Amino acid sequence: MSHFKLAPSILSADFGRLGEEVAAAEQAGADWLHLDVMDGHFVPNLTIGPDVVAAVAKRTTLPVDVHLMVREPDHLLESFVAAGATALGVHVEACTHLHRTLTEIRRLGARPCVVLNPATPAEALRVVLPIVDQVLVMTVNPGFGGQAFIPETLPKLRQIRSWIDELGRPIDLVVDGGINAQTVESVAIHGARVFVMGQAFFKSHDYKRFADSIRTLLAPLSGP
Ligand code: DX5
Ligand code: ZN
Repeated sequence: MSHFKLAPSILSADFGRLGEEVAAAEQAGADWLHLDVMDGHFVPNLTIGPDVVAAVAKRTTLPVDVHLMVREPDHLLESFVAAGATALGVHVEACTHLHRTLTEIRRLGARPCVVLNPATPAEALRVVLPIVDQVLVMTVNPGFGGQAFIPETLPKLRQIRSWIDELGRPIDLVVDGGINAQTVESVAIHGARVFVMGQAFFKSHDYKRFADSIRTLLAPLSGP
């Protein structure tokens, strides 16, 4: 799908049938799988650890994009990479030594991703932009699937897109939270290229039909 990528978030999958859900997402044409790790401190919810990431990674050939909603995640990086994470996202708001943490993710062999909450200004990541492979802009407050998209995040996307284009490095600009058929065009117009989708994807009746409908919506916005 040109330069746009779909990243279903398994947070909204049926955990009792996780292997089947992963296979179905892959067959529907997902480009990445997005896995949400929550610690009950940085965000109010608790989800999965490295064992579940490893179980998913064994079932797929897609990139495994792990989003750590964890306070001070340094002690966990190695176990998530060993579990099969191909990218590790850490929050600006959760890391005291953000540059060191992102450098360590690269040293471990995964793609470093810096993540911003909706209320955190774009400037907070500017210094680390040259050392990351991905930027994830949260378009809801992290912690739960199925929340409403926050439109005030749009100018921030446009700003980060212009910094990425200036740098000229292939950094993926990812959006996460409330992305669906109603919001995807707007985030794409503002510069996002990777769309994490939880409820919109996994609560659709036919994953392939849903993915195809998103691709159709985005087709007019695809570059050369
Ligand atoms: C929220 C998570 C998201 C979540 C998105 O804290 O980071 O990845 O799964 O879910 P939807 O697409 O339902 O907003
Ligand atoms: Zn996420």
